[in-house]
Amino acid sequence: MATMVALRKSTGAISSGARSLLSFQRGFGTSDHGYTLPDLPYEYGALEPVISGEIMQLHHSKHHQAYVTGFNQAMEKLKEAHSKRDPQTIVQLQSLIKFNGGGHVNHSIFWQNLAPVKEGGGAPPEG
Ligand SMILES: [Fe+2]
Repeated sequence: MATMVALRKSTGAISSGARSLLSFQRGFGTSDHGYTLPDLPYEYGALEPVISGEIMQLHHSKHHQAYVTGFNQAMEKLKEAHSKRDPQTIVQLQSLIKFNGGGHVNHSIFWQNLAPVKEGGGAPPEG
């Protein structure tokens, strides 16, 4: 099945995506430098012909970057609202934080769960 070609084999160990998530959660709300777009662990075209390099580049550099930018903006507004002791704005920002923060986390995990065939991708899941 073509959709399975790019899936990384399960090793049973904690995935780097899960480690990214844990790292992300530990830093949530405490970072002064904001969140950044993670590098992909492979080249944009590495998953071809299953996923085109053009789609990977668009999805990573535009789509995922938009979540990171939106999340940083929302977190900055949250920080400001906290400093102004503005509970109404704090509550209003929650959906923006969940949407953009969730998009950032989901995409960070997604990239780590794909792999080129030469790096262990391409086999059906085990177990
Ligand atoms: Fe996406």
